[in-house]
Amino acid sequence: MTAPTQVRVFYRPEDLFEASAEELILTANAAVRTNGVFNVALSGGSTPKSLYALLASKPAGTIPWGETRFFFGDERHVPPDHRDSNYRMANEAMLSLVAVPKNVFRVPAEAKEATAAAEQYEHTLREAFRLEANQFPRFDLILLGLGPDGHTASLFPNTAALGEKSRLVVANWVEKFKTYRITLTLPVINNAAKILFLVSGKDKAPALSSIFTPTSDPNNFPAKWVMPTDGELLWFVTQDAAAELRTKGDASFQSE
Ligand code: 6PG
Repeated sequence: MTAPTQVRVFYRPEDLFEASAEELILTANAAVRTNGVFNVALSGGSTPKSLYALLASKPAGTIPWGETRFFFGDERHVPPDHRDSNYRMANEAMLSLVAVPKNVFRVPAEAKEATAAAEQYEHTLREAFRLEANQFPRFDLILLGLGPDGHTASLFPNTAALGEKSRLVVANWVEKFKTYRITLTLPVINNAAKILFLVSGKDKAPALSSIFTPTSDPNNFPAKWVMPTDGELLWFVTQDAAAELRTKGDASFQSE
């Protein structure tokens, strides 16, 4: 059963990050109590860096790091030490400070061919979640960001990955960057128990408004395709990012 989308609007980015940290802590401890493990997919870009640093600063015992398994929602086609690497950003901000190395499952994006990296990461997921052939992993939490063009993970507008229905991970050609990105597919994302979008900045306001406009085309704003089949969808957004939100649709809105 899917709960209605929740949108929380924060006046200050620091309030958004604190609330996001609380949400992750709550989810992590609940997952470990229930299943003995917390499987989380980290998002890339720049917004989540403050969240990762905040999490790393929390007192020992707040987060069950030893039982947390870190995956990535997407990765650029670059080595792990490259300045554009999502792994490098998360590792510097958090993972190197708190994670047990064997619990970090990064995308092998140093592979010469992006398709090989995607295939290898799909295999990693199948092994880590002990999946049968036609099963999708169910993450306890997937963190996502939003690009000004409405992309999320590396699901960019009108790209091939949007139509993927069976693969877990694909290499997605992004024409505007003239490069491949490696990304979780929508069936994986929508199979999550909880999805948390972190959106900050006025440059995201038009895309956010389009995503919450019932008549907009999700292929032009791929984050709109994110609809968990049996899970919670949370949007934590700053006031400037929410400035153009006209329709509330069936989402429940809360201003902090
Ligand atoms: C990436 C991310 C991407 C990101 C958005 C927002 O690899 O860049 O996965 O989907 O979340 O582009 O990025 P910012 O948070 O930097 O605005």
